[in-house]
Amino acid sequence: MELPYELRGAIEEQLALMPAKKLSGLAARLSEDYRSGKPLVRKSYVSTYEDALAYVAFRLPATFAAAYFAMVQVKERLTDLKPKTFLDVGAGPGTAMWAATMVWPQLEHITLVEREQPMIDMGKKLAKHSVLPSIRQAEWIKANVMEKWDIAPHDVVIASYALNELPERSIEPFTLKLWESTEKLLILIEPGTPSGFSLIRRVRERLLLQGANVVAPCPHNGSCPIAQGDWCHFSQRLNRSRLHRQIKGGTLSYEDEKFSFVCLSRTPGASVKGVVIRHPQIRKGHIYLRVCTREGIEEIVVTRRDKEKFKEARKLSWGSVIHW
Ligand SMILES: C[S@@+](CC[C@H](N)C(=O)[O-])C[C@H]1O[C@@H](n2cnc3c(N)ncnc32)[C@H](O)[C@@H]1O
Repeated sequence: MELPYELRGAIEEQLALMPAKKLSGLAARLSEDYRSGKPLVRKSYVSTYEDALAYVAFRLPATFAAAYFAMVQVKERLTDLKPKTFLDVGAGPGTAMWAATMVWPQLEHITLVEREQPMIDMGKKLAKHSVLPSIRQAEWIKANVMEKWDIAPHDVVIASYALNELPERSIEPFTLKLWESTEKLLILIEPGTPSGFSLIRRVRERLLLQGANVVAPCPHNGSCPIAQGDWCHFSQRLNRSRLHRQIKGGTLSYEDEKFSFVCLSRTPGASVKGVVIRHPQIRKGHIYLRVCTREGIEEIVVTRRDKEKFKEARKLSWGSVIHW
């Protein structure tokens, strides 16, 4: 997974303004803050220009990959969806709009709601590099979503890696408000951890009561069959630039971003038999698939003897839809 060319260039231009060593220290602190999962000691993870820079260097490529993956899943199942308006709440530096315009290039109007001014400033700087008027002219709204915020409904609404930054008591009213602001599709993404998944499962159940339809990843609107102690998540591999490797203090040329998500729409998506919810295990003569189906979780073994199915199964990956 690669970032769009102009976004990559825009980020590199920003990063070049700070010595790599300093950036590396900032990225390490941000990483520790996010990883610890402890309640915020500071008012916000990102409240200065330097924090925003570290976010862009250290987190944006990964959250972009997660948003892109979720949107591609939707595109396959809601083929008639041709959104014109897009709203991102807790937008950070506007990560999701870059993914959205790749999936739905016809987007005309983008609105981004964000509390932290340095994130907004950073997002605007990056947006200037886009070839798309919808990104360059995106409307940024500085607002705290725990206070009063009113936005006209948009075709597609997203809150990506934002729910977990809100206090517990605000989660339900916030998600109901997001649903109210959704004309067609709502996308919610959280870290692929037990607590991230538990948030996603909870808001999924709540919004089903409001009449929402699950478009992805689940192949059904029923209750989630994932057992206690397990968690449903997906993974995207992204390439690290040299600077990225330097900043993160790692040698690997890639990283895997794990995330949980749910996409809910006003109208039902295409009917899907099952979704692969782990990396397929390819053995000699066998492929093992863990699949979420309308009947629950199934462990499917495809053998080489079943030639056609085996050929199809070899092409499957974590998150793929299966039709048999
Ligand atoms: C982890 S970042 C995610 C940014 C972006 N959505 C992405 O996927 O890269 C969470 C964002 O939510 C914003 N946020 C947290 N609480 C907020 C609130 N109460 N009102 C508005 N924005 C908030 C933070 O400032 C931060 O920019």
